[in-house]
Amino acid sequence: MTKKGFPKHFLWGGAMAANQVEGAWNIDGKGLSVADMATYKSNLSLDDYEGHVAISSEFIEKARKDKDDKVYPKRRGIDFYHRYKEDLALFAEMGFKVLRVSIAWSRIFPTGEEEKPNEKGLQFYENVFSEMRKLGIEPIVTLSHYEMPLTLSIKYNGWVERKVIDHFVRFCHVCLHRYKDLVKYWLTFNEIDSIHRHPFTTAGIIPDLCPEGKEEELVYQALHHQFVASALVTADCHRIIEGSQVGCMLTKLTTYPHTCDPKDVEVTLKKNLHNYFFADVQVFGEYPVMIERMLERKNIHVKMAPNDREILREHTVDFVSFSYYMSLTESAQEGLEKAAGNTIMGVKNPYLPATDWGWQIDPVGLKISLIELYDRYKKPLIIVENGMGAFDKVESDGAIHDEYRIKYFKEHFKQMKEAVEEGVDLFGYTSWAPIDLISAGTSQMSKRYGFIHVDQDDEGNGTLERRKKDSFYWYKKVIESNGEYLD
Ligand code: BG6
Repeated sequence: MTKKGFPKHFLWGGAMAANQVEGAWNIDGKGLSVADMATYKSNLSLDDYEGHVAISSEFIEKARKDKDDKVYPKRRGIDFYHRYKEDLALFAEMGFKVLRVSIAWSRIFPTGEEEKPNEKGLQFYENVFSEMRKLGIEPIVTLSHYEMPLTLSIKYNGWVERKVIDHFVRFCHVCLHRYKDLVKYWLTFNEIDSIHRHPFTTAGIIPDLCPEGKEEELVYQALHHQFVASALVTADCHRIIEGSQVGCMLTKLTTYPHTCDPKDVEVTLKKNLHNYFFADVQVFGEYPVMIERMLERKNIHVKMAPNDREILREHTVDFVSFSYYMSLTESAQEGLEKAAGNTIMGVKNPYLPATDWGWQIDPVGLKISLIELYDRYKKPLIIVENGMGAFDKVESDGAIHDEYRIKYFKEHFKQMKEAVEEGVDLFGYTSWAPIDLISAGTSQMSKRYGFIHVDQDDEGNGTLERRKKDSFYWYKKVIESNGEYLD
């Protein structure tokens, strides 16, 4: 008999990151992180993900002395640090089964190098996870979501130096121990592939600390260190928490050939293989041969310790998680019109509509992504980010009629359901983001993703009051019906 609909215990919920919601950037012992350097950017198109000002040692030196939280909006977030109970209660009201959050590394180890962790930071997350448990919400915790301690970035040029592996593994070890009775699902690195697109945000790499012409090589070196760290943390997690599950996290950049010209098909194939590479290492435990050849051709030498390959091989992940916002198209031809996207641009696809920020909306692409990923990895999948950034309007009676958001989700859920019915093992879905937060790419507040509106503008003015949008009531019904209520 054909199976219909989503699995019985499907994990519906939402996802967010510490640096985009918590605020409280300089209290209770928290140290500065790379996220605290991100400046507000008013451009709608995202052609420079690292922010308004190019990252340099000089810029960082100035920014770290500056106490402002208007220019650096991630410092203020949406004050989840003080309002987490109210927010979690709203998520519970929607019926959330799961919530993906991250732990800000610099809240636990302010510079990354302390002997002892910061108890106040540890206590904060214990409070959050305990509250989630009380409300019946399963936590999925990301250990690295663009929030490396700034000191490590400056001192070691981020993940370029191998020593950072030890610091990260120690931070994770402390978290795994402390939360072993509260958290079962863990993700090591958010969008590990994003190191190529924004090396500072993802891996603390500062361009002027890289010898000329060596930046690309150092990016691959830092990535290798993250792979090794991820494998070591996976092993540690399995040792410390019985029945725990560790996942990798990929930006799924499903790319179509712009035309059926074989040249377009070939460049597209290569682009897709490069995107898979990041999950391949974490799932199969080895570098794909074609990536090794590509590195050789580019004269890129990644230094590996003698047992690195063995570590990668032995400690692979239990499941695959990914973000999906849009598909891309690729062409061998130069000069074609580009479309915007999360930190990456593809050739514009004439068949697709786009969000207010120009990200092309492609629900069928989500189904294609699910089928491809499951066929390749044969591991349980979870979508841990998907959603649309949009301008919302608060009516005079306080209502927010975000029918465009409902439409977006509805179309994506239909495709998810079809993929599941075709045999894909999908065990959960967390929307990005269940509540309005500070955008990762532009640090805007006006780029709203949530089912819950937060009264704050781009300059940080507002009461921070939370309001339910129409989509709040709609998503609640979707969860109640386990994905059957879609119309
Ligand atoms: C993903 C990140 O790339 O995209 C999130 O993991 C981010 O942190 C999301 O918020 C959406 O991007 P943006 O720039 O619209 O916030």
